This record gives sequence, structure tokens and C-alpha cells, in this order.
Amino acid sequence: MGFVRVAAAAEVPEGAVIEVLDGGVPYAVCNVGGEVRALLGVCPHHGGPLGQGTLEGGVLACPWHCWPFDSATGICGFNPDLSVAVYPVRVTDGSVFVDLP
Ligand code: FES
Repeated sequence: MGFVRVAAAAEVPEGAVIEVLDGGVPYAVCNVGGEVRALLGVCPHHGGPLGQGTLEGGVLACPWHCWPFDSATGICGFNPDLSVAVYPVRVTDGSVFVDLP
């Protein structure tokens, strides 16, 4: 699909995570130390909304059962064989663009 505008940069200040939808698919967009990252917003455990989770030290925790995911790699902290997809991000002209599949 290529880079798609998903949010204004101001919507994702440092330390925040938001949920955005594109084509009905939820994505989690977060800001870790000024670096905006994007992950698929569906938890591989039971489908929890990762974009409604909490962010701490770059780790995104699912709001349903707190499984932790590295926001840079998508790898689950409980089981490295489990992960969620991560996508390249660009922040340009006050907007966040994500390279969506
Ligand atoms: S659905 Fe995400 S931890 Fe259970």
C-alpha cells in the first residue's frame, strides 16, 4: 500500500500510544523518546487492542492481559517466538505516515 497518513504528530506526543484504523484494521502508534513507531494493533494472545494499551520504556503492554511487546521489534517479552508486525514510520510536516501492507 505504501506510506499512509494515520495521525497528526501532535496526537502522539512522547510516551503516548494511540490506536488508529486503516481499512478497518487497527494499528498501535506510539512515541518512544521522540521516535514514532507503528505496530499491528491486534494482540496475538486473544486479539486485544494494543493501541489502547500502555507504554513504558518502549514496551507496549496489551490492555487485556498485559502481555508485553517490544515496540521496536514487535517481539513478545513473554515468548520471543510470538510477535506482532511492525511497520516503517515517517514523520513529515506534522503528520505521521506508516508504510502499511
Ligand atoms: S489479548 Fe493481549 S494479552 Fe491477552
